[in-house]
Amino acid sequence: METAKAPGKIILFGEHAVVYGYPGIAVPVKNAEIEVSVSHSDYFSYETDRELYKEEKECLNELVDLIFFQLEVDKKELHIKIKSTIPIASGMGSSAALAVALIKGIAEHFDILLTEKKINEIAFESEKLFHGTPSGIDNTVVTYGKPVYFYDGEMQLLKLKKPIYLVIANTGIKSSTKEVVSGVRQRYERYKEEYSALFDKIGEITEKAKTAFENGEIEQLGELMDKNHALLQQIDVSCKELDELVETAKLAGALGAKLAGAGKGGNIVALVDESSKDKVIEALKKISKNVIYTEIKP
Ligand code: PMV
Repeated sequence: METAKAPGKIILFGEHAVVYGYPGIAVPVKNAEIEVSVSHSDYFSYETDRELYKEEKECLNELVDLIFFQLEVDKKELHIKIKSTIPIASGMGSSAALAVALIKGIAEHFDILLTEKKINEIAFESEKLFHGTPSGIDNTVVTYGKPVYFYDGEMQLLKLKKPIYLVIANTGIKSSTKEVVSGVRQRYERYKEEYSALFDKIGEITEKAKTAFENGEIEQLGELMDKNHALLQQIDVSCKELDELVETAKLAGALGAKLAGAGKGGNIVALVDESSKDKVIEALKKISKNVIYTEIKP
């Protein structure tokens, strides 16, 4: 039996704009992950430690077919066991992590050596099954398991000068990335000038954030997260539950906070420091059932 893992992720800057060719920044969240075990069986079957959500269920067979096609193997007699600690449909990249863990596990089962680049390419194709028009940022950060700066389909590993401390809190509302992204697309088509100007501003913020990461300017990063959240509100992907979590984190002393991922539910991410960390976690736990603390090291 072969076992493979892939981490969750959180987008720190640039979601939605990244779909239109602007830059985005995302980091892996290693204390939330998907583990896939692959073993021989007489026919294809799978088991999961939780209910799969609609898109996952619809896509799992297609996803496995795509992986087999890409790996050029035609034997499908496998039993796949999926274990996940990534909250689903929440902006933590569970679909990308599922794809990456499956690709790695199946490849290993058939003794196929894959480069990270190839895993990322296959995962990008898989993301299309889930999201329609993905930017590629999710599969990239999950494949490499490192902070990435993603721009126009190309990625650079992001160099952090100092560690960053993040608190992620879930609204409990499941949100479909595909639906939210297509809603933004409709509004973009309708109000092109206004939306292009908003994406320009998000793009500028992401560029400034890249520099702030490289220079270890943590407070500046917090301010940029707040500004990014305000712009995401303007493109109408926030909701009152996300805004409430963001405000709660800020009131408890977070350096910055924003929704993370597609929005309309899912998660927020707050940037904290040693002195605010416990207060922010405590305050968020009062209104969120799923609070994750994670450190991203240089
Ligand atoms: O909600 P998530 O984690 O799947 O993130 C989606 C990020 C978007 O920028 C909204 C879409 C994309 O493909 O980049």
